[in-house]
Amino acid sequence: TDPALIRNFCIIAHIDHGKSTLADRMLQLTGVVEARQMRAQYLDRMDIERERGITIKSQAVRLPFTATDDVSYVLNLIDTPGHVDFSYEVSRSLAACEGAILLVDAAQGIEAQTLANLYMALENDLAIIPVLNKIDLPAAQPEKYAAELANIIGCEPSDVLKVSAKTGVGVDELLNEIVAKIPPPVGDADAPARAMIFDSVYDTYRGVVTYVRVIDGQLGTRERIQMMSTRATHEMLEIGVSSPEPTKVASLGVGEVGYLITGVKDVRQSKVGDTVTSATKPATEILSGYREPKPMVFSGLYPIDGTDYPVLRDALEKLQLNDAALVFEPETSAALGFGFRCGFLGLLHLEITRDRLEREFNLDLISTAPNVVYQVRMEDAVEHTVTNPSEFPEGKIAEVREPMVRATLLSPSDFVGPIMELCQSRRGNLQGMDYLSEDRVEMRYTLPLAEIVFDFFDQLKSRTKGYASLDYEPSGEQIADLVKVDILLQGETVDAFSAIVHKENAYSYGLAMTKKLRELIPRQQFEVPIQAAVGARVIARENIRAIRKDVLSKCYGGDISRKRKLLEKQKEGKKRMKMVGRVEVPQEAFISALSTD
Ligand code: GTP
Repeated sequence: TDPALIRNFCIIAHIDHGKSTLADRMLQLTGVVEARQMRAQYLDRMDIERERGITIKSQAVRLPFTATDDVSYVLNLIDTPGHVDFSYEVSRSLAACEGAILLVDAAQGIEAQTLANLYMALENDLAIIPVLNKIDLPAAQPEKYAAELANIIGCEPSDVLKVSAKTGVGVDELLNEIVAKIPPPVGDADAPARAMIFDSVYDTYRGVVTYVRVIDGQLGTRERIQMMSTRATHEMLEIGVSSPEPTKVASLGVGEVGYLITGVKDVRQSKVGDTVTSATKPATEILSGYREPKPMVFSGLYPIDGTDYPVLRDALEKLQLNDAALVFEPETSAALGFGFRCGFLGLLHLEITRDRLEREFNLDLISTAPNVVYQVRMEDAVEHTVTNPSEFPEGKIAEVREPMVRATLLSPSDFVGPIMELCQSRRGNLQGMDYLSEDRVEMRYTLPLAEIVFDFFDQLKSRTKGYASLDYEPSGEQIADLVKVDILLQGETVDAFSAIVHKENAYSYGLAMTKKLRELIPRQQFEVPIQAAVGARVIARENIRAIRKDVLSKCYGGDISRKRKLLEKQKEGKKRMKMVGRVEVPQEAFISALSTD
């Protein structure tokens, strides 16, 4: 295709603002999917995405469109993932486009996430088409939000398109606007081939399907390709476009978007952001912006039933085929048995992974409290990278550094006070504040990532009646006064409960955990002290009093079946006992202690 006739674009939208519905409507209007075979939300493939209403993996679809000038264009819609944890993937999808539709629910206004992605699009010099969706809703306030959008991107309120993805109103105009406003791709057709990977998806039947946008030159079948970050070469088995079913083509040229299949079995060999070139005539310069996926949040995952350990390992290996950011290694815990320490991009990534393990592989899992990665420098200058609090080094520590984030919060102005309080209590620093409109505020904070991974989002929602939204991106690290708090049962450290916390919060963490455990651990035949300690210093203590309890004494004679039930129950409980030193702890107690509520 002549690059002049190509338009590459994506849709920036908040969850539920109608991205999938709009994409479906575009598929239908351009005739690539017949109305009757229209599966609702064609682009969202995975069940879990559909259920949770989030888009995790991006894909692309090619739409042939004849504009009002009677010329036939090729519009490539590149789907972007919609959540903070995947902001690097978003940035790569944006880098594959020349323009973006900024899609905002006309009854809700813009959200923090959308704003953050909009800024990213502006940094990438994309042409922005502001669009209000759901204008058919009685609650829609198109005038108000058009003014807000115009204010944010610096256009006239009348430049904001108004559509209903549901009814189709305005969508044809939008397609024409894409042709008119978004510049065609430019690239050097004679240069060595360079294509950027903006997504790669594992398919059980075909192996890894790699989605690319060609920048320069041409990629064809029957040639070897090279991944520029690793110099690994692969044979090209198939090259094609999604329209939306995979359709083979002979080659992809400048500005074109399509997929490659090379027989690679694992997405880590075909990484988002990497540059694909021809192995026989390789380009010399990798496209800018490539980054190795870097896990930010770690958690131990353990099967509740120890015999599930091999199933868990296989399941993690399977998920990793499709998830270059997921890392894991075996770990043993005195409290929880055999499991894996897993690294994730963020909390949602953790949650999705856990959910999929439980659902798709039928596993019951317990996860330790999520923690971030700390860098510890000892006085003798040795550096440690700590991904598990129980491995925090002993000895003379010179400094501890923790990862920071830049957070953007959007909220009705009524909640500025509560948000400031929350951020302050989480060691946040206010960087700036802007009114987007009369009653909506954008606040920018730097915060330690560790403070966000622990129930920050829930707190934010509950303090703002659900109105505030949050987005964050990594932003370096800071030296902080952090200590490890251990929890000891009769003098034995329970590894799963060690935590790295700010010095000022050590006491409250210790107190909360010891109290919780006292309530959860049944009495033993001897007294059991539960202590919280920083190094050798005990900062909190509770006691479980000794008692020899006859379970049946409660029953005051009588009902024999009730007695039997009690005995059975006791037997059941015994099976799942873990020994910490001499102390018998029901696994249930650990599980409850680790859950946040
Ligand atoms: P994710 O896939 O979760 O990112 O959400 P999305 O942004 O793709 O939203 P989706 O298209 O799933 O739409 C969310 C909800 O809004 C669905 O219930 C849609 O039916 C509804 N919706 C989308 N567009 C419109 C519209 O123009 N009018 C009305 N009334 N409802 C709409």
